[in-house]
Amino acid sequence: MSSDPMSASAGPCPLAIVVAVAENGVIGRDNRLIWRLKSDLRRFRELTWGKPMIMGRKTFESIGKALPGRKTVVVTRDPGFSAEGVEVAHGFAEAVARAMRLAGEMGAQEIAVVGGAEIYALALPHASRLHLTLVHAAPEGDVRFPDFDRSAFREVRREARPKGPDDEHPFTFVELERTQPLGPA
Ligand SMILES: NC(=O)c1ccc[n+]([C@@H]2O[C@H](COP(=O)([O-])OP(=O)(O)OC[C@H]3O[C@@H](n4cnc5c(N)ncnc54)[C@H](OP(=O)(O)O)[C@@H]3O)[C@@H](O)[C@H]2O)c1
Repeated sequence: MSSDPMSASAGPCPLAIVVAVAENGVIGRDNRLIWRLKSDLRRFRELTWGKPMIMGRKTFESIGKALPGRKTVVVTRDPGFSAEGVEVAHGFAEAVARAMRLAGEMGAQEIAVVGGAEIYALALPHASRLHLTLVHAAPEGDVRFPDFDRSAFREVRREARPKGPDDEHPFTFVELERTQPLGPA
């Protein structure tokens, strides 16, 4: 295995982005989610269960705690940051290195990058897979999913889902898989 954690992300434990994004690109407002989608929370749990997750400090604070059944790596520049039940990294490469080690310990085949926008932007050039929930709504928000090179990916799954009883909107699950090689770190 390479000693470079970023090139290692292309290796045995790839990075997968998990995000719910509205039709206008919005993913959040006032450091919180902007919709109630129980079906998507269930999918998030399934996609991340038993895996290391990388998230930004703001997303961690919006969730408020380490989620069970997964290991959390929080990315922050704050040298004094600590929180119960999470590992802390002070840069994205360090976060990937920590998540790689955790994946080995957990026997996980994938590292889940779960936001927010700043962390998605850092992860996109290194991501092998995107699990998108396209939410059929156009809410106001202050955080958007970053632009990325869509041509580097092919769609391998699309599943339209009607609004369930505990969902505010209908949505479509889309899975993208990288076809072009990962760029240099
Ligand atoms: N719809 C979805 O699927 C989804 C998923 C996740 C989050 N969200 C939403 O997204 C919003 C939060 O996203 P965000 O972009 O504002 O914040 P974020 O990405 O969660 O966290 C940003 C923080 O990460 C740390 N950070 C960023 N780059 C870093 C680097 N290179 N090195 C070290 N630390 C770094 C900094 O923490 P410090 O300030 O502590 O240094 C920065 O303030 C919320 O509204 C949340 O609800 C939506």
